[in-house]
Amino acid sequence: MIVCSCNVFSDRQVLDVCSGSNPRTPGEVYRCLGCSPQCGRCARTIRALMDQAQAHNCGACAEDCPVAAITGLVAAE
Ligand code: FES
Repeated sequence: MIVCSCNVFSDRQVLDVCSGSNPRTPGEVYRCLGCSPQCGRCARTIRALMDQAQAHNCGACAEDCPVAAITGLVAAE
């Protein structure tokens, strides 16, 4: 799903950035994706995805994990 229509990047790309570099602000996510905020409407969504990614680092990933559903990552049994 596209989360930023100005820069055209997806929730998956945001989660990939979060898992790879652990950004602390939405601004860092924009920079990691090689762009900058334009209208700013997506900043709240990016923050929510960052929070989900942090929660996903629980070490006990389950099939009903919302981040796992987006990324397709489910811990091997
Ligand atoms: S929708 Fe992301 S900057 Fe406009």
